[in-house]
Amino acid sequence: MKQRIIHILKNPTYDQKITVKGWVKTKRGSKNVNFIALNDGSTIQNLQIVADAEKISEEILKLIQTGACIAVNGTLIASQGAGQSMEVTADSIEILGEANPDEYKIQAKSHSMEFLREQAHLRSRTTTFGAIFRIRHALAFAVHQYFNDNGFFYWNSPIITGSDAEGAGQMFRVTTLSDQNPPLEDGKVNYKEDFFGQVTNLTVSGQLEAELGAMGLGLVYTFGPTFRAENSNTARHLAEFWMIEPEMAFYDLQDNMDLVENFLKYLINYALNNCAEDLAFLEKRLLDEEKTKKKEEQSEMALLEKLTFVVAQDFQRLTYTEAVEILLNSNHHKKKKFQYEVKWGIDLQSEHERYLVEKHFKKPVILTDYPKDIKAFYMKQNEDGKTVRAMDVLFPNIGEMVGGSQREENYDKLLTRMREMGVHEEGLWWYLETRKFGTAPHAGFGLGFERLVLFVTGMGNIRDVIPFPRTPQNAAF
Ligand code: 4AD
Ligand code: MG
Repeated sequence: MKQRIIHILKNPTYDQKITVKGWVKTKRGSKNVNFIALNDGSTIQNLQIVADAEKISEEILKLIQTGACIAVNGTLIASQGAGQSMEVTADSIEILGEANPDEYKIQAKSHSMEFLREQAHLRSRTTTFGAIFRIRHALAFAVHQYFNDNGFFYWNSPIITGSDAEGAGQMFRVTTLSDQNPPLEDGKVNYKEDFFGQVTNLTVSGQLEAELGAMGLGLVYTFGPTFRAENSNTARHLAEFWMIEPEMAFYDLQDNMDLVENFLKYLINYALNNCAEDLAFLEKRLLDEEKTKKKEEQSEMALLEKLTFVVAQDFQRLTYTEAVEILLNSNHHKKKKFQYEVKWGIDLQSEHERYLVEKHFKKPVILTDYPKDIKAFYMKQNEDGKTVRAMDVLFPNIGEMVGGSQREENYDKLLTRMREMGVHEEGLWWYLETRKFGTAPHAGFGLGFERLVLFVTGMGNIRDVIPFPRTPQNAAF
């Protein structure tokens, strides 16, 4: 493998010839000698290149501008200067790709996140986005590591599907029919003539098929793209996001809570242990950003402290009913500070979730046993006839990080609930069959990957933790 800057910095072989390739962050110096900060993406650290005018021609030096791509041949030496322990004295520099400073927009200054979203094709070269996407990678790797170490099998649910797992009807249609003159039947588009011979959509969740996997392999998890056509233009919603959905045979709600807590702590710990430099940079970025906010909006903890804190806490577990009681008794409610009404039966709004997590408990919370009418058809019904064995994991700054439940494994109860809720039973005959043949208690949950990355990086907007965000009115790149 070719040497990258991360390896050179970790295991320097001084006074030897080396070749490094990367993008120029900055160039400073004088007529005689220039110092180039070179980054190749392997680490947040730059390698300093010393370009002496005696060896490197003026034409070449002129082309060494922020954003240009260069290959440097030279000698690695221990650095005399302050600020770095080593540097490369260049014998020759080849310009692989110029970046005309009059046109290249990502200059070595601070750009707004909004501006960089419009430059998403180039933003991975910035220090901030380099750090975010390395952390995103580390977390994805840790997901597979965790499940592999714990006997789960990676299971791929289909992306194109005929079923609406969440029953929320927020799906993107997949079709190859002509948009000019599609085949019609009784005045409506006839999807029997479509590619799959039926209506198909992009999946909103891999759960239903993950359950099929769990009923044979015992422990499975999915980790794939998920699509929701909900018109939520918020800092927490994407139209295309990645979800991790483990599904476990013989797990009840208690086991599900134990697993999700252990899993989330493992992932955060993994980032703390493996992404220290990137996190330290993002912590500083966040502190600078917070300084521009009002005092009461500033967070009490710095990023690393917050991550360490969350890992050290037992998540607070309580029922939805208990949570509503707390909200109703809060001063916040008495002073009418909630925008949305609080009463038993409502789908908790983000302001309610954040109150519980950030003001009341001041740590992650797992809410369970929600009213059945605000949850999906597949959740196991409680004996009270009113609630289901659901669980949502709520995090500071994020709100809902995870949604999950124990599943209804009783055929009759499931079918009755599907009929009550108007879920198409014909389309889900295969799902129902798992309750007919060898049914078993089981449970699972879905973790929104970008919400996790958002929490770990301390970023403020979900559009900044996925390389190419998809949101209403935006599918650029
Ligand atoms: O709560 P949700 O809708 O649950 C499910 O889809 C279940 N089938 C999961 C399961 O039990 N296997 O979504 C799960 C998580 C949410 O808690 C949230 O973190 C994330 O997915 N999520 C989104 N993330 C980004 N953008 C969106 N539009 C999201 N919608 C949900
Ligand atoms: Mg949910």
